Amino acid sequence: MKLSRLPFLLILLAGSTGIFVAQIPGNAPYKNPKTPIEQRVEDLLRRMTAPEKADMLSGSGWMESQPNARLGIPAIKMADGPMGVRNWRGASAITNAAATSPVLSTAFPAGIGMGASWDVELVQREGRVVAQEVKALGRNMILGPTVNINRQPLWGRNFEGYGEDPYLSARMGVAYIQGVQSENVIPSVKHFAANNQEFERHRIDETIDVRALHEIYFPAFRAAVQEAGVWSVMNAYNKVNGLWCAENPMLLSQTLQKRWGFKGFVISDWGSTYSTAATVAAGMNLEMPGGEPMRVWFAKPETGKDGNGAGWLTRDKVLAAVSAGQLKQEAVDDAARRILRVMFSAGLFDAAPAAAGEVDTPEQRALARTAATESIVLLKNEGGALPLGAPKIRSVAVIGPSAAVARTGGGGSSLVRPKYAVTALDGIKEAAGTQTQVGYALGVAMQGDDAGQETPQALARLRNEAVELARKSDAAVIVVGYSYKLESEGFDRPSMDLPAGQDELIEAVAAANKNTIVVIAAGAPVTMTRWIGRVPAVVQAWYGGQEAGHAIGDILFGAQNPSGKLPVTFPKQWPDSPAYGHYPGENLRTAYTEGIYVGYRGFDQRNVEPLFPFGHGLSYTKFDYSGLKITPAKVAAGQPVQVTMQVRNSGSRAGAEIVQLYVHDVKSSVDRPLKELKGFRRVMLNPGEARTVSFTLDRSALSFYSTAKDEWVAEPGAFEVWIGASSRDIRLKGAFDLAQ
Ligand code: BGC
Repeated sequence: MKLSRLPFLLILLAGSTGIFVAQIPGNAPYKNPKTPIEQRVEDLLRRMTAPEKADMLSGSGWMESQPNARLGIPAIKMADGPMGVRNWRGASAITNAAATSPVLSTAFPAGIGMGASWDVELVQREGRVVAQEVKALGRNMILGPTVNINRQPLWGRNFEGYGEDPYLSARMGVAYIQGVQSENVIPSVKHFAANNQEFERHRIDETIDVRALHEIYFPAFRAAVQEAGVWSVMNAYNKVNGLWCAENPMLLSQTLQKRWGFKGFVISDWGSTYSTAATVAAGMNLEMPGGEPMRVWFAKPETGKDGNGAGWLTRDKVLAAVSAGQLKQEAVDDAARRILRVMFSAGLFDAAPAAAGEVDTPEQRALARTAATESIVLLKNEGGALPLGAPKIRSVAVIGPSAAVARTGGGGSSLVRPKYAVTALDGIKEAAGTQTQVGYALGVAMQGDDAGQETPQALARLRNEAVELARKSDAAVIVVGYSYKLESEGFDRPSMDLPAGQDELIEAVAAANKNTIVVIAAGAPVTMTRWIGRVPAVVQAWYGGQEAGHAIGDILFGAQNPSGKLPVTFPKQWPDSPAYGHYPGENLRTAYTEGIYVGYRGFDQRNVEPLFPFGHGLSYTKFDYSGLKITPAKVAAGQPVQVTMQVRNSGSRAGAEIVQLYVHDVKSSVDRPLKELKGFRRVMLNPGEARTVSFTLDRSALSFYSTAKDEWVAEPGAFEVWIGASSRDIRLKGAFDLAQ
């Protein structure tokens, strides 16, 4: 440094660290938005002391990273997601649903419902709106999307993710991230990797073979990194193959960083760290929570009892690990570098994180309603039971524990408090208009919600009231399912069965009224064996966010055509699931013995008939598939395959169809699933309208992960392309050859 510059620098003695630090000139390159990002990062890093760098590695509170006043580094201000901005009550307070001054935001359908829309563009718009609300609330990071795979139906958080298929999850995750990042808000794709059960989520050690990791549990994360350029990844609580995800070099440095080229930072899940040197060296960059809120929380006996770990990446511990030679300074620098890179990319140094934008605008409401509508899956519709309405149906009995209460989302960190929420009952009344009378009876209380209504006498009285109402109505709609207290982060569902009394209620009402429609508000499949044969129609409504009621009304009365398709297989019963017998594990270990045969891959492999297959969803109109063309018939290695076909709306009303493309490898040196989803399109068609749909299959669509070669391999030979309206309703088949 030239001596002549000295007057511009005020040399200070930083009391606590005992080293000299310089005041930063206003024209420092990192402060200039025109300086390229990498130069800004390196310039700032050069000016940071070792303790200042170490400070970057842990939070300052429950939802903030550490700011640095000397250098002008702001805190990253986080908010939970992904289905909206979670209720949160102030700068560093622990978020919870019972907060006294709640933060209100738009509640979108749970991830599983967004997955059921198969609408990539919709999910991208959702991401954008969520990010706008994050900013409106003065924050700059959203903890989502969740892209963990629905491995088994009991996982308490199945509702958060996009279902069982890695390709669909990847498309949805990428869209959400692109939406969020387009608003300069930092997303955090979570939970890396294989957070597939809540049972002992902090201690469970999952044995997963490399092929299943790459083919099933990784693809959505890989796409987030390589296609969306995601800025941050959150590690999972669990262990994978013997090591906690926060200190797992195979997951973080080898896969995320080296193999996929991830440039952003890894954030810990809240309380998922158990070491200092091993964690930083493995590639975990920012430990959350931090500061005093972390200490208060961690001192509580239940925090430790649950198996949380925290407080390992504090300044003192990081500096001590470096001085003891256990941790390289470069690893600390790399963590700080990654965090700063993202902060510069998201403009955190340049724009004041002041509140901008609004919450609960007409556009946001409209998008929430569209999303809720598109998420609904018509599972069964015999004899045209749906849509309801005059002249056939002049009175409807609306019944059930989720009819007059809006079940907007599942429980835990993703639960949003919206400004309002439309119940199914209100939505149905609105849709029914003046032509159809709507009556209401509770039928049965939601399990655990009202002990007074769970006595045998109360149960009988409630059920009789419902049966009486159903008997004198032209149709009955029973809205059943779970509540956020019964299906939630933190624990798994004890079984696939509906909560107490709901099956019996459906049976009793169905016996009284043959036009009984069951609407299910739940985040995962439920057992329907007792009554599925006795009701003409079943609708899967998931947790539809604040506009769920309107969407249910619109679908039931035909104002909207149902177009959702299942992003997850609905088994007849839990023992049919490929994960049955390999969950929840013994002695804190669970072996993913089913390997790559997750979801429909497993049902196909074992030839088990599901209740409703992956990709299934009915419509009020009809679609014809024709004209499959695959070019070229023999494709050179590395060249794409073009697939086209026509879909035509041959019914009498407008509607969207979700056309699905599955690849079948005719002959392979390794076991492969019978079929794998490798493309889909949501096509909106007027009656009589036809559209050509095209797909491009590249090498990745034909490949499997070879454990021998430790890479993706597309073997030469014959492949088939199966085009279906569901994974088990294949309408067109064609073939091509992949040349040597
Ligand atoms: C959850 C995360 C969440 C975090 C912060 C954890 O318990 O697993 O998904 O983002 O808490 O609330």
